Amino acid sequence: MTILITNIKELLQVREENVSLIAGKSMKELPTIKDAYLLIENDRIADFGAMENCVIKKFDQTIDARGKIVLPTWCDSHSHIVFAGNREQEFVDRINGLSYEEIANRGGGILNSAKILGRTDEDDLFNQSLKRVHEVMKMGTGILEIKSGYGLTLESELKMLRVIKRIKNTVPIKIKATFLGAHALPLKFKNTKRAYVDHIINDMLPVICKENLADYIDVFCEKGYFSLEDTERLLVAGKQFGLTPKIHVNQFNAFGGVALAVKHGALSVDHLEELIDDDILALTGSKTMPVALPTCSYFLGIPYTPARQIIDAGLPLALATDYNPGSTPSGNMNFVVSTACIKMKMTPEEAINAATINGAYAMGCSNEYGSISIGKKANLIITKDIPSYNYLPYAFGDNHIEKVIINGQLIN
Ligand code: NIG
Ligand code: FE
Repeated sequence: MTILITNIKELLQVREENVSLIAGKSMKELPTIKDAYLLIENDRIADFGAMENCVIKKFDQTIDARGKIVLPTWCDSHSHIVFAGNREQEFVDRINGLSYEEIANRGGGILNSAKILGRTDEDDLFNQSLKRVHEVMKMGTGILEIKSGYGLTLESELKMLRVIKRIKNTVPIKIKATFLGAHALPLKFKNTKRAYVDHIINDMLPVICKENLADYIDVFCEKGYFSLEDTERLLVAGKQFGLTPKIHVNQFNAFGGVALAVKHGALSVDHLEELIDDDILALTGSKTMPVALPTCSYFLGIPYTPARQIIDAGLPLALATDYNPGSTPSGNMNFVVSTACIKMKMTPEEAINAATINGAYAMGCSNEYGSISIGKKANLIITKDIPSYNYLPYAFGDNHIEKVIINGQLIN
């Protein structure tokens, strides 16, 4: 099956050479071709270029993209999209003055979601979660990382990871799975945190690996959750089971988690709302991708990750949703890109680089996703008729997407 897209007003993120990430000043550059064509062969990008050079005569289907912009689908490298129920009441409690921390201390927060998930059966959890994945696909997400972490018991963590596996086998987009057993301390282990970490290491990790249920290991490295010492034990154990670290760090406090993650070869460090010079130093020269989650800051009213500081230090930056019921009940990458421009002072070029190629890197997939390059997966967004790509983040909250193509096929 071949599809020729013609008369594309502007084709974004065109990379002739296979780059794996974009860092520092280069993030301000977004290579494009105006008045372009793109040829899809089966599930891959087979050719592209300026319309005037288009000599392709043989194809099965053609899409006229006059007035429209074409770009790679969003690469969302951080989500908790598998969850049960919602936390609307906590949202209202926060409006009425309680903090995220106060709600968590009352047994709300992550433990509240774990309670609901515990009594939700696997099929129900699958159906609730699958619906959300279909929604984010329509909003242009073409690869998605999904974490466990609302189980917090062996049984429920396995339930979550099996649901992630079923989603992976059901949807056309690529899914990466992350084991986040260390997301919060279950009540049962209230005064014996070390025993819970032992439980994760000795009882959960071996089963998860035997069933091949995860690609990455995550820890909520934060005051009141898991310390540097806990985090290190978990990362070391995870690596022994072949799981690469990819961790929650510096959401509320910066105390050395970034350097620890880098030391253990983390693929990404996510959140970074709080950032100290030592973190920048640790990331410099490393292979670890910093990931910002601006719609989490938006929803909780906490500081935004200092993107300018990170990028101006020559580092790369990726953007992701953090879609979860507590801190970010939205999986809309378009809104993430807008918020990054509006609140973090990223240029549209930087934000698009961060939400495509750098997001793909943060899932170990930038060789196949995240740019318009020959041989990469044909995962594309075709916008409506819009004036320029700046309009995508500028006219925030509107849906500018007309079509989404995943693996060379149009989805509804
Ligand atoms: O990334 N910070 C830790 N985990 C999630 C929120 C979890 C929740 O509140 O349910 C996050 O923001
Ligand atoms: Fe998260």
